[in-house]
Amino acid sequence: MSNVHASSHPLVAHKLTRLRDKQTEPKKFRELVREIAALLAYEATADLLTASQSIETPLATYEGTTLREKIGLVPILRAGLGMVEGIWELMPSAEVWHIGIYRDEHTLKPVEYYNKLPVEPRVSVCLIVDPMLATGGSAIATADVLKRWGVRKIKFVGLIGAPEGIAAMQKAHADVPIYLAAIDDHLNERAYIVPGLGDAGDRQFGTG
Ligand code: PRP
Ligand code: URA
Repeated sequence: MSNVHASSHPLVAHKLTRLRDKQTEPKKFRELVREIAALLAYEATADLLTASQSIETPLATYEGTTLREKIGLVPILRAGLGMVEGIWELMPSAEVWHIGIYRDEHTLKPVEYYNKLPVEPRVSVCLIVDPMLATGGSAIATADVLKRWGVRKIKFVGLIGAPEGIAAMQKAHADVPIYLAAIDDHLNERAYIVPGLGDAGDRQFGTG
């Protein structure tokens, strides 16, 4: 699983525990999603390409660094929305492209209902953001869409992954690294992650 990164950062572990707690209210839940997303994105972007840039400090010329890659954030609606803001603060020039996919309750297959990507990508690297990687169906479908669109460098940033979803994603898209706050134990009979945090969309938007 060399392409799978589960954060070992104590801040992530602390915040994720609060996020999992069923007593955590939607306002706090959204705040934690935003904060953990930013911490994970920091880890997921450690290999972004850079170029050198010469600038003048008040005292001297300085050979510095600038980002060379144009980043696209791709939240999977709707639960992925809550991860955007925290990451966007770190990389304000990123473009945000929304993909609407929900998991059919009965078949558990992903159903795409929204996609307004322009004809050609203007970004060179995309971060797919979605809190939950359960069966992997939604993440796989999104990576399929982005590859058809022409993006070659894709990363998945999520909060919790199940072993089943990670394996499926790696089988379908071995070239897409996966960044998570935690890898949980298993999926239950309704394909919810256990111990997990419940329904990430409902808990953010108060719709449970
Ligand atoms: C959740 C979650 C992922 C998907 C994960 O979304 O945010 O998108 O399930 O499950 P999978 O790995 O088995 O595909 P959901 O379908 O509940 O839609 P929502 O975000 O609109 O609530
Ligand atoms: N979607 C969620 O929101 N939670 C899960 O545990 C699985 C899929």
